[in-house]
Amino acid sequence: MTNFLNGDVNNVRNDHPKRLRPEKFNDIHCHCLPALDDGPATMSESLVLCRMLVAEGIATVVATPHQLGRFEGRNETAKVREAVRILNKSLRNNNVPLNIVPGGEVRVDERICELLKADKILTLADGGKYILLELPHQIFIDIEPLLTELASMGIQSIISHAEKNAPLVAQHQVLRKWLENSAHLQITASSLVGDLGPKVQRAAWKFLTSGWATLVATDAHDINARKPRMRAAFDRISARLGKGLAHLVCIENPSRVVNGQDILPVALYNQQEVDG
Ligand SMILES: [Fe+2]
Repeated sequence: MTNFLNGDVNNVRNDHPKRLRPEKFNDIHCHCLPALDDGPATMSESLVLCRMLVAEGIATVVATPHQLGRFEGRNETAKVREAVRILNKSLRNNNVPLNIVPGGEVRVDERICELLKADKILTLADGGKYILLELPHQIFIDIEPLLTELASMGIQSIISHAEKNAPLVAQHQVLRKWLENSAHLQITASSLVGDLGPKVQRAAWKFLTSGWATLVATDAHDINARKPRMRAAFDRISARLGKGLAHLVCIENPSRVVNGQDILPVALYNQQEVDG
């Protein structure tokens, strides 16, 4: 896989005039709301997960319950916003220093633009600038028309855990086209550290070292099999590719998504192939 963002290679680490310097992680993909999807079943499980997110060094979490697909009709916008309000209240009452904002992980669907206009599905941080899209796991579909339609509404797409989607990993040329058409790739922290197996780990590192992935998130569902691994991922990226890149993909770009600012491109910090 080659880096097609070569024009940006030299100006990311030090020279961007508006670079932010947030100290804490922001997590743009997390299933922390209780009893909505395959995340925590109860408020008490939710609080346990939130405490672990705080221990990971995370300050703000975009709650991204599944929307559409197998959760069709279950997690519409009003319900998610209310669940976020209740969880934030519970976090304050239990002295857990974590801020939750609304979002969704939206299964790709030809009705997405229409449902956004009707306020039935959510953009990330409810900001109207980014949407987190989940592709079908076992089949490949070209979502170029959807990306274009979203872009015409001023919305940029973030593809969730691209490394877990085997058909997508094999479709470099199509993926390149998507990235040129305003899409971004999010990879999952636990994939980078190997929790999801060597194949997924290898794909995650390739997306990162190629400069294609610009965001790392936890996609945490619980404190066991699908726990948040942001700190470990940050340390691994720092060790292999440098702290500048780790900061960009784990801290700065997620913060930019939460704040509705432009995602910065990833420079090719290290040309060497990473075996993962
Ligand atoms: Fe997810």
